[in-house]
Amino acid sequence: MFAVPRFPFRCRRSWASRLCIGLLALAGVAAGAADKPGELNVLHWWTSASERAAADLVAARMAENGLKWVDGAVAGGGGAAAVKVLNERILRRMAPKVAQLIGQSMNGWADMGLLLNLDDVAARRHWAKVMFPTVMAQLRANGHIVAAPLGVHRINNLYVNTALLRRHRIVAPADWDGLLRSAAQLRAAGVVPVAFSDEPWQVATVFEALLLGEAGPALYRRMLVQHDPKAFEDPALERALLRLRAWRQLAQPLAPGAVPNAERPWTDAVADFAQGRAAFFIMGDWARGELGTLALEGGRDFECRAVPGTAGMHLYSIDTLAMLTLSDGSRADQEKMAELLGTATLQLGYNRIKGSVPVRRDVPVDELDPCAQASFALFASPATPRVPSFVHRMAVSEVGKSAIVETVHQFALNPNQTPAAAQRRLQGLLRAIGPRAGAAASSSP
Ligand code: GAL
Repeated sequence: MFAVPRFPFRCRRSWASRLCIGLLALAGVAAGAADKPGELNVLHWWTSASERAAADLVAARMAENGLKWVDGAVAGGGGAAAVKVLNERILRRMAPKVAQLIGQSMNGWADMGLLLNLDDVAARRHWAKVMFPTVMAQLRANGHIVAAPLGVHRINNLYVNTALLRRHRIVAPADWDGLLRSAAQLRAAGVVPVAFSDEPWQVATVFEALLLGEAGPALYRRMLVQHDPKAFEDPALERALLRLRAWRQLAQPLAPGAVPNAERPWTDAVADFAQGRAAFFIMGDWARGELGTLALEGGRDFECRAVPGTAGMHLYSIDTLAMLTLSDGSRADQEKMAELLGTATLQLGYNRIKGSVPVRRDVPVDELDPCAQASFALFASPATPRVPSFVHRMAVSEVGKSAIVETVHQFALNPNQTPAAAQRRLQGLLRAIGPRAGAAASSSP
């Protein structure tokens, strides 16, 4: 997962693992930050208004239960910076007790024995019974539960600024043709149709939703879950790449000579959309959390729909917090926090703010907004094609996902690169990463 200077190997589940973990312990790699009993230092990347408010709610519930959330926020949507800081802190023997670690990015740490085994917590709280199977699958590494879940995000959302469309007497579009028609009308009326940022993870987040629309769930899984090289030759990938470029083009400013798209934080793109500087926005539903939290003008006058071609599908990312194994007797506090995160009350309060939906089937969601209710109903239905987000680490490890994100980003920004060249690069990358263990074609997780 990353280069450990003194121990350039990964701990495996064999006889060597004990030795490996022993060496790490001797080296004090996970010696931990110096929190007092009851204090839990949490490293995470929730720094927008809604993310902050959702984290604060967890902190408040923890305080009621005698635990103190010591904040370790690292700014940067998508978490690339936070993950680097986590690596650095572990190597410098300053590991936090709790870290936002999600999906496949947990595996390397779990292999090294650095994540607390939460099997007992899961058993005590009947997680396997109350939580969605797709959620449970994302909590496991090497067959053990190594993280506590917070919420399920849906990525394939198209937000439509209905107030802006009404003002320009444009009928809200239902499909790609309609979208492109209304985009042309908006441009003619002097409005930039699309909110967008050139930040690599944001470009790739738009791309994965477009890819799902063009490829459908089965081909998407063949590419990003099974890493089947043949799948990358499919024309659906070329269509998705070209759509990405066209979508980005719709975000270019109208005035000649104006500064084009820049690598802006996702909250800036949300603000463009909410304040009527753009009519359409494709983003994970943390954006809806932000629209709900911010008192931005027009922030509530929007609709959320599925990205065209993805109606009825759920491209998901599941937020989790892992507990790092430390030698300072904080296990009881960590377990207490993990238990709390999974409770129905906390789930409802947190997800209402965050824009995601509860990880449990037994939480009543009728108080949540219609977009959240739709996401929950889809995620809960066995008939729904659920596909894991590669950008948000559900399908590919940290390093693999960074390489794919970079490739997609380069294609989007370099008009001289052909789709065929990008397809070959992606194919080569996924071939080099190799097949993912246990990735079945039909299984949702
Ligand atoms: C995702 C994370 C979300 C959200 C988003 C933007 O990776 O799962 O919780 O915060 O990044 O930062």
